[in-house]
Amino acid sequence: MAKCIEKKFFQTEWQGVGFDNLHVKLSKSEMPTREFYDKFYINFFNKYKRYSDLPDSWLSVKKNTAISIYNTFSGKKEILSFGCGIGFVESVIADLQEDLLIDAFDFSEISSKWIKHSSKVKCINNLSEDKKYDIIYLCQVFYAIPGDECVNILKSLSTKLKAGGLIVLIDTSIIPSENGSNKMLDFIYKMKNTFDFIFTDSIIFKNIFDFGKKKQLWGWQRSNYKTSEFVSKAGLNLYKQFPSDNQSFTLITKSKI
Ligand SMILES: C[S@@+](CC[C@H](N)C(=O)[O-])C[C@H]1O[C@@H](n2cnc3c(N)ncnc32)[C@H](O)[C@@H]1O
Repeated sequence: MAKCIEKKFFQTEWQGVGFDNLHVKLSKSEMPTREFYDKFYINFFNKYKRYSDLPDSWLSVKKNTAISIYNTFSGKKEILSFGCGIGFVESVIADLQEDLLIDAFDFSEISSKWIKHSSKVKCINNLSEDKKYDIIYLCQVFYAIPGDECVNILKSLSTKLKAGGLIVLIDTSIIPSENGSNKMLDFIYKMKNTFDFIFTDSIIFKNIFDFGKKKQLWGWQRSNYKTSEFVSKAGLNLYKQFPSDNQSFTLITKSKI
């Protein structure tokens, strides 16, 4: 299987909140704007009133992911979550260590409605010029950064790291075994990708398959190799890549450890 893979994917809803009710123009070529996310979160908070209203399966995966993220901290205290969304992961992490200070950043000002009441999590919509962190993590966010911005975002986040600090990316690799699945699944996915390339991705078939569907470009599924390319182009050091909680973790440092 070619290792350096990147493939667009699309979404029509999240947690049962359909995008066609948001009164924003959906796009199959442009990523969602801040306005899109703000409108999405308004509808989301109309539907759900607290974390426990969300499906148990989602809460369980996120809880395990939060613990795995916390395990990369090694006792460090000053943390930035970039793209925190509704802040459930941060709420779990905040309970794991007494003296943690988490800055939770999202470009949507609406998403923090529940987490902003936590005493250990500070919600921010702008990154401070001079504040530096021990750990900066992006949980299911890097996939939403277009390829031509990935290098710049890594470079810019690395300037906010303290000496010895770590950037942690948590995403779902396009290659199942990189998320910890059985290697056999890689073969099945390769077949599916070939099918998609010939049929659903080709212009003629795309128009047939997509007819009437209101889809939003949601991001890029990437292989670990593709992610590691961004890391080296940003002049950073790929410290480790490993599967956990059915996702792939990429640990990045400024210089070799
Ligand atoms: C899939 S959610 C992930 C939320 C959370 N980290 C989690 O794992 O549950 C992605 C979040 O990233 C935010 N986001 C997307 N692109 C962003 C960007 N360029 N800058 C800041 N936040 C962004 C969105 O507003 C959204 O809340």
